[in-house]
Amino acid sequence: MTADRTVAVVTGAARGIGAATVLALAQQGWEVLAVDRGKDDPALAYPMGTEAELGEVVAEANWRVEAADRVRPFIADVRDAAALQAAVAEAEARWGGLDAAVAAAGVIAGGVPLWEVPAEQEQAVLDVNLGGVLNLARAAVPAMLRRPPPRHGRFLAVASAAATRGLPMLAAYCAAKAGVTGLVRALAAELGDTGVTANAVSPGSTDTPILAESARLYGLSGAPEFAAQQPLRRLLAPAEVAEVLAFLAGPASSGMTGAVVPVDGGLAL
Ligand SMILES: NC(=O)c1ccc[n+]([C@@H]2O[C@H](COP(=O)([O-])OP(=O)(O)OC[C@H]3O[C@@H](n4cnc5c(N)ncnc54)[C@H](O)[C@@H]3O)[C@@H](O)[C@H]2O)c1
Repeated sequence: MTADRTVAVVTGAARGIGAATVLALAQQGWEVLAVDRGKDDPALAYPMGTEAELGEVVAEANWRVEAADRVRPFIADVRDAAALQAAVAEAEARWGGLDAAVAAAGVIAGGVPLWEVPAEQEQAVLDVNLGGVLNLARAAVPAMLRRPPPRHGRFLAVASAAATRGLPMLAAYCAAKAGVTGLVRALAAELGDTGVTANAVSPGSTDTPILAESARLYGLSGAPEFAAQQPLRRLLAPAEVAEVLAFLAGPASSGMTGAVVPVDGGLAL
């Protein structure tokens, strides 16, 4: 991959794994459109990333690489297909094309059996965690295919250990994440020999606000209580997941497609 062909769109970029991925890609020379909703979601019981946090991530990334605008912010809700089309169009117009799309935006709700979860929470979990990935693929894959061959397009999604484990009180979240892994496998098969690949990572318990909300839903004192369930006996840092995503975004992952890579401290063992 040449230096002028490293343009990425990352959703969920205001904090956590998405923000760490923006930083990792920027440091590897990518131009990045950092996308986030940037405000709270009335359907959900915990705060989302803010527009100010997104601005801080963008400023930090540009500062680290001593660039004025290698990373740019973009406010969009991943449930809004037109907004993601606009984000991709912005990346193409600004930087001349698209080489990677990382679907990291995600939300959690539950804490009660599925039949007791408020309908609007269940809908948000399905629409953001699965619908948002479909929307990004619909917008980003055609853009990556617009690159002339030989291509190195990378569609990446953040699934979860919840894609394969039956986690009580998180049924919609498990369903959405299992959907993401199915989507990535089918997309990989569709993309075939185009030069665009599709892969996912499945993080384990990673120290971000979504894990703090998971702890609250389970009545735990805080996210650190999840550390004991991972063979590594600690929470992962967002940067540890981002490093794998950045590898998958790059040319060295050319032999992988349809893969779901655990980055989970052994949680799935
Ligand atoms: N932290 C973990 O333990 C863990 C484990 C497995 C999977 N994951 C997955 O990792 C991904 C990143 O989560 P995180 O841990 O960084 O959580 P996080 O809550 O820190 O970050 C999620 C980001 O997504 C944004 N977002 C939420 N809804 C959005 C929407 N509709 N449109 C655009 N942006 C939206 C939020 O504003 C926030 O900035 C998610 O898909 C999550 O399900 C996290």
